[in-house]
This record gives sequence, C-alpha cells and structure tokens, in this order.
Amino acid sequence: MEKSSFVLKGNVCYNTSPTEVRTVAGGYAVCVDGTSAGVFEELPERFSGLPVVDCVDQLVIPGMSDIHVHAPQYAFRGLGMDLELLEWLNTHTFPEESHYADLDYAGRAYDIFADDLRRSPTTRAVVFGTLHVGATELLMDKLEDTGLVTYVGKVNMDRNSPDTLVETTVGSAEATRRWLAGVDGRYERTMPILTPRFTPSCTDELMAELGKIREEFGLPVQSHLSENLSECDWVAGLCPWSSCYGDAYDHFGLLGEPSGSKAVMAHCVYSGEEEVGLLARTGTYVAHCPQSNAQLASGIAPIRRYLDLGMNVGLGTDVAGGANLSMFRCMADAVTVSKLRWRLVDQGLAPLTTQETLWLATMGGGSFFGKVGSLAEGYEFDALVLDDSGIRTPRDLGVWERVERYVYLAEEGGRLARKYVSGHEVSLA
Ligand code: GUN
Ligand code: FE
Repeated sequence: MEKSSFVLKGNVCYNTSPTEVRTVAGGYAVCVDGTSAGVFEELPERFSGLPVVDCVDQLVIPGMSDIHVHAPQYAFRGLGMDLELLEWLNTHTFPEESHYADLDYAGRAYDIFADDLRRSPTTRAVVFGTLHVGATELLMDKLEDTGLVTYVGKVNMDRNSPDTLVETTVGSAEATRRWLAGVDGRYERTMPILTPRFTPSCTDELMAELGKIREEFGLPVQSHLSENLSECDWVAGLCPWSSCYGDAYDHFGLLGEPSGSKAVMAHCVYSGEEEVGLLARTGTYVAHCPQSNAQLASGIAPIRRYLDLGMNVGLGTDVAGGANLSMFRCMADAVTVSKLRWRLVDQGLAPLTTQETLWLATMGGGSFFGKVGSLAEGYEFDALVLDDSGIRTPRDLGVWERVERYVYLAEEGGRLARKYVSGHEVSLA
C-alpha cells in the first residue's frame, strides 16, 4: 500500500518519558511516508507542500496498543463477572470458545469484534483467538480488513480442558504448523504469534514443541502468567521441576527474545523476586489488565515496581475478563487499582499517574510493535483525533487537562473523530 504524507493541525499531546508529556496547542503533527517527522508549533517551510487536515480545536494524541485481548470472548463481554479465574474459564470461557469450531458462528462473532475494535481508540493489538485453525484464519482476515496492525494467535491447549476444546499434543503442534503455513505471506498488517494458553492448559511436551516452532519461525509469544493464586499453586504442582511459574515458560524458550522475537505475559500479579528478575532479564512484556484483575478478583499487579525496574510494560483490556475494549477505561482503571494497592497493600509503591498510564497505553505497549506509540520524529504515525466538545464545562482547560479528563470521561461525551495507523486513515464508519 502507498505510504501517505500529510499534516494534522490540532492540540497535540504525547509522552516524552513515562512521567512527562509534551503539549502543543494549535500545533502541527507531520506524517511523511507513514512516519512522524515531528510535532511543531509553526509548520516548517519544508512541509508547506503537504495537505493539512485541520482538526480545529480537537486533540491529537498517539494511537494505543491493547497488548492482551481475547477476540472470541467479546461475545460474552459483561456477562458472568461473578467467578474467579479457574471457575470462570470452565463455566463461561471454554464453552464459548468451543463454538468457534463452527465457522458460521465464528464469522458472525468476529465481524462484531473486528468492527468494534476498528472504531475504538486501539490502533494495534495482540490478540488471542481459539485453538481452531479455520476460525483463527477468519479472524486474521477480518482484522486485516480493519486497517489496524495486530498479532493474532491460534491457541494451544492439550490438557485440563473440556472434550469440546482440547487438542492432542501432536495434533496441537501439527495444527500450529498448518496455521502458520496457511497465513504465511497472506497479510500486510496481521501477524501470527505463538499462543500457549497458559501452563495448566499445555503439557511440557507441547511447550517443548512450541519452543522448537518458535525458534524455527522466529515467532513472538503471548500467554498468561501468575494471574491468580489458585492458578499459581496449580502450576507449582504441574511443573514441580520449575523454579517459578515463569521458569515453566522460560525452560522451553518461550519468554523474552532468544531469537530476536518478543514475548508478552498477561497479568504478573503474583510474580515473585525470581520471576520478576527473569522477566526483566529477558525483556518480556507485562500486559497489565487492571479491569480483568478486579472483575475476576485476581489481585493488583505491582506495576510501579515493574516501571522502576525499567521493564517492558503495556496495557491490556483482557476482554472478557475485562468487559470492554476501551483503552481509556483501561488507563483509568490502572490509576484506580494502583491507588487501592498503595492504600491497602503497599505504601512503598506510589500510585500511577494519568501521564504514566498514557505512556503505558501508547509507548509502553507500542514498542512491542517496533517504533510505535509517540508522535515524535521517527515513530510510525499512529494517531487519534479526539473531539471532546461533548464533555461540557464552563472552565477554560489546557491541552493536558483536556486529555486527562478524556481518559475518565471518554464514554461520557467524547468522540473519536479520526484514527491513523502508520499514516493510513482508518474508516470509523
Ligand atoms: N488464563 C488462561 N486462559 C485465560 C483467559 O482466557 N483469560 C484470562 N484472564 N486468563 C486466562
Ligand atoms: Fe487473558
């Protein structure tokens, strides 16, 4: 596809560090061949030939990356929020995911997911499918059509799963290879990611096979880690040889960047000293999913600690553990739960600020995709234009104040006016 060049004129805001933002009222965000050429107070002469999209008084911020979301679970979002993880999986999640053996059902469900994700503030996402090859390819086809950039995983599960949603060890590895062959070269912006569901769902033999496939294809990995106390106890029993839950992935080469490919682990609520060291050493991403961790009563991840250690951290909606796709809601939830953790658990870890959660939603998760998540020069041009005129106040607000309240009030009068991924405008119709 041809790369586009243009200028967005508006009230620009983006992070210059995890804690700081730069704002330029009435500024110019310049996109050249899909890449940001920088943000300016006055439009430099050298860009004067580019078309200018006048966003008038609207806000312009970087696009957001949802680095942990389950596409098939979108069908039951907002339902069954009364159980903890392991019961929730057996009662609600596995029965729903079993339906994706039926391509007709999968098509209808994934049409809705892809449509809603396209119209959301998310520009990039790291997505779980189900174990079904056909449905996962269908999901990838539909996500490719949205214009968003995504990693999508065919899930692997060969134990502790219902008869309707389980593979044999050999069958799971074979299906993964078949899927990889099927999607090879098929997409411009939709990429495969290896997806062992979590240790309780995957035997050591399957993990070893996935480690080999990862090395062979240089694939990234996504999974779940240390989300819930019963899950952690279970894993200790299933893998008595492992030194911590994270080791049960690392042992098979499924963390970090052994072959230059990335890994993202959702949650990390109960990661101990050794596991945190392992995640930090391997550059593994933590997908912080505050709404899911609250709804499934899992706990509160110590994100301040991970940030202090310079670890890779981003945000995930974890639908349907979280009820909705809103990254703004996700940011607000991250601030809220960090305050509860500070008050109730550990006053040594200061709450997150809204600036920090903007960084997590944009640059933190964006770096999983490369140079993504900022409007600074050299980043892929992912941008959101926000109309906050429906969020009424008699006050005169500065640009940052307008972004800050949009985080909390997006669903209360906020409107996503435009969205760009790598310089391409995404249809919001
Ligand atoms: N652990 C294993 N599978 C899942 C899932 O679907 N959602 C969440 N939140 N945790 C999991
Ligand atoms: Fe999840």
